[in-house]
Amino acid sequence: MAIQLIGVMAFAQVQVTNLLIENRIEPTGIDKAAPRLSWQLFSSNRNVMQTAYEIRVATDVKSLEKGKKLAWNSGKISSMQSVVVDYNGNELQSGTTYYWQVRVWDNQGNRSKWSQPSHWLTGIKDVDNWKAQWIQVGFEEEEGRPSPMFRKEFNSSKKIKHAVAFVTAKGVYEAEINGKKVGDACFAPFWTTYNERLQYQTYDVTDLVKQGNNAVGITLGNGWYRGNIGFEGKVNVYGSELALLFQLEITYEDGTTELVVSDGSWKSSTGPIVYSEIYHGETYDARLEKTGWSEAGYNDNKWSGVELKDYSKDILITTENEPVRKKEVFHPVEILTTPEGDQVIDFGQNLVGWVQMKVSGKAGDQISITHTEVLDKDGNVYLESLRSAKQKNTFILKGEGVEEFEPHFSWQGFRYIKVEGYPGELKRENFTATALYSDMVQTGSFVCSDELVNQLQHNIQWGQRGNFLDVPTDCPQRDERLGWTGDAQAFARTATFNFRVHSFFDKWLKDVASDQYDNGGVPFVVPDVLRNGQVSPGWADVATIGPWTMYLAYGDKDLLAQQYESMKGWVNYIRSVSPDHLWKPAFSFGDWLFYRPFDDNSGMSAVTDKSLIAQAFYAHSTQLLINAAEVLDKKDDVKKYQELLEMIKQAFVQEYMTPNGKLVSGTQTAYVLALNFDLLPEALRDQAAKRLVDNIRTYNTHLTTGFLGTPYLCHVLSRFGYTDMAYELLMQKTYPSWLYPVTMGATTIWERWDGIKPDGTFQTPGMNSFNHYAYGAIGDWMYRVVAGIDTEEDNPGYKGIQIKPHIGEQLSHAKAELQTYYGQVVSGWEKVDDKLKLNVSVPVNTKAVVYVPASAESAVTESGKKLGDVSDLEVVGHKDGYVILKLGSGMYQFESN
Ligand code: BGC
Repeated sequence: MAIQLIGVMAFAQVQVTNLLIENRIEPTGIDKAAPRLSWQLFSSNRNVMQTAYEIRVATDVKSLEKGKKLAWNSGKISSMQSVVVDYNGNELQSGTTYYWQVRVWDNQGNRSKWSQPSHWLTGIKDVDNWKAQWIQVGFEEEEGRPSPMFRKEFNSSKKIKHAVAFVTAKGVYEAEINGKKVGDACFAPFWTTYNERLQYQTYDVTDLVKQGNNAVGITLGNGWYRGNIGFEGKVNVYGSELALLFQLEITYEDGTTELVVSDGSWKSSTGPIVYSEIYHGETYDARLEKTGWSEAGYNDNKWSGVELKDYSKDILITTENEPVRKKEVFHPVEILTTPEGDQVIDFGQNLVGWVQMKVSGKAGDQISITHTEVLDKDGNVYLESLRSAKQKNTFILKGEGVEEFEPHFSWQGFRYIKVEGYPGELKRENFTATALYSDMVQTGSFVCSDELVNQLQHNIQWGQRGNFLDVPTDCPQRDERLGWTGDAQAFARTATFNFRVHSFFDKWLKDVASDQYDNGGVPFVVPDVLRNGQVSPGWADVATIGPWTMYLAYGDKDLLAQQYESMKGWVNYIRSVSPDHLWKPAFSFGDWLFYRPFDDNSGMSAVTDKSLIAQAFYAHSTQLLINAAEVLDKKDDVKKYQELLEMIKQAFVQEYMTPNGKLVSGTQTAYVLALNFDLLPEALRDQAAKRLVDNIRTYNTHLTTGFLGTPYLCHVLSRFGYTDMAYELLMQKTYPSWLYPVTMGATTIWERWDGIKPDGTFQTPGMNSFNHYAYGAIGDWMYRVVAGIDTEEDNPGYKGIQIKPHIGEQLSHAKAELQTYYGQVVSGWEKVDDKLKLNVSVPVNTKAVVYVPASAESAVTESGKKLGDVSDLEVVGHKDGYVILKLGSGMYQFESN
């Protein structure tokens, strides 16, 4: 009896949960032969490591739990690996749901129970499995290109066990079966380099299809495929005709199967969406609704047929990242009439999504909603900075009771809406704003004692939400919304803290590789709709910075291997255009939007030589390529590129530095890049850091950096012992600084340091977005330095954790939490009287090195005990004001003075 009880208690001490497949929660459309499985361990004990695991997989839950008819039973495998373990069972079949669970053994003699089952749905295994045909409308398209609709009825004669739909389009689509929407994604099939990679989506539609008569109806929108995208009113970038591909696979209880596919028997028509453009909005005429069109029994006699097309299916790929979904909902905080007499609703937050409206009125009443981010200094609607984007939705009533509207194939970036034509009074309850973005798991939080800094963190996260709508965009409101490579590389590391962006970048980096020019150059934007064949330093380097950042944050070696040729192609490109190892690019955006005072008589503009920047990024990209080659064990490349890197650095020093260590551009960005990328001889680095500090002082402790220098500024200061100054920059409230926009009421990160000037006037409308994440790159420093959570580079993905907080005079407490693949890492410090409290949490199956700020080992306690009395951690030493400890999983409460 006693023995049994001990057994039960020991069992309870380690648990497995948070199962992931290909880094996602219960994904659909997995088409890999060996998807990668991950799980997390929980234990109330300290220093817990996994020693073994066992996985089982089956096609139904009952068999799984009985351990019968398994597709894979790994048996007990001795291994510490709990993240990205390759499936290694029977060959996986298309369109099939696989259930799996795992149990683990730990280093303290415990075995977990089997985890709760999780599951994934497979995609289409190979192109021959596509039986559907591409279809287009069978009528002449009207001007304005109203959204076409397709329908098909079918009969399912027997009891249905399982039904899976595979759908994609040239355009964007919304599908319905029997009057209900299929899935909950918006803007599928999302955006890729359509000419080479077109994603299809996989849906479990078992609950939508019924025995008997059924109907499927699908509406298409122009989307990125043929809508207005890029500058100058460009349309039809990928093609001029919308098309649909649909395949439904029904499995009956008796084991037989049936296919319903898009083919020549479908019907087409138009309906209520008479106009739809990403930038400009949607016009929906409810009088043109076709009630019951996606249900069986609808009379489609007047509908046209369809045209068959033999577009390639070889470019079809499964969906690789989280779909765009409806997320947070906002209610009006104020309804106001502007001095110019406009009726305006303020939602209190600059967001990306759309407004849903309820209204009753007469048939033909027309209501339009125009979206804007800001009101001008007089309180009037300001639209100029949207440039040509109209951001206007128009709804025409059918006049039957309360009608509800929202757009379908267009989204807007806004905080305010102007409402015109609304019958009756505007009431709060009739308007809601819904945020739309890629449904990434939120992984990080940062809070501290300063409310303005907390608002900055809020703004960074909202900037990320708004601009992570399937591709990382520059801005979500004006006529761009493009995957600018420079912005993405600047923000990537910060992005990995706030949300799990692993799959998001995995997919987008494949597009980077796919859009890379034949000579290795990387376009300004990806997907490349500008198609100008040009490259810019600091932009194109996303090809190396992107994969390396993802490798650090998620430890994904496969991603690095997948991108390796792209990384190498980019470095080889620079080498090919750089005689004497000096890169003088034909074109460069430079340190985009750096500080540049108006009427600059005293020469305070922080202009950094563009070639110096190029050379710095050449070195950085080469270094990252070497890092990747080392991880992937490509010894020849390591050697070859190390030699190249030496030459690049020498060329930098010869060309851009005086013998005394002064750079030809005396800007913050010049010193920051040279120091961050280790371009200067060791002996001259400290003096360079001093010059950087002096420079910052000449601007009265203000930053002057643009997109390229900003991400590294505070990191360089901290690295060279000037964290106090980094804090001063962070806390600076006057322009240019991170907090200046916060003091001006910003709820997202602005494109420019002074988008709104102190007198309330705006920066130039041609380039003035109020939701642009690049300057939000300070978030990385807040997580990694203020709170101090970092991964060890040689143990990436937080398998090896470093916790090294930097205590700032200006703050009384700060805390960050990060959900890693292993579990939650926490670092939170607080000053209490003359003591410092540091609470740390380290997930199971990881190790951490913790730096406790303290004068000596004897000044530190953990949970009230002297360090020497705490058996489950190891004191390594004392250095630079920190007591250094090695420890394993668990929660620790340190106190020091
Ligand atoms: C975008 C950027 C981009 C820049 C390059 C702008 O229009 O909004 O953020 O990086 O162009 O010049």
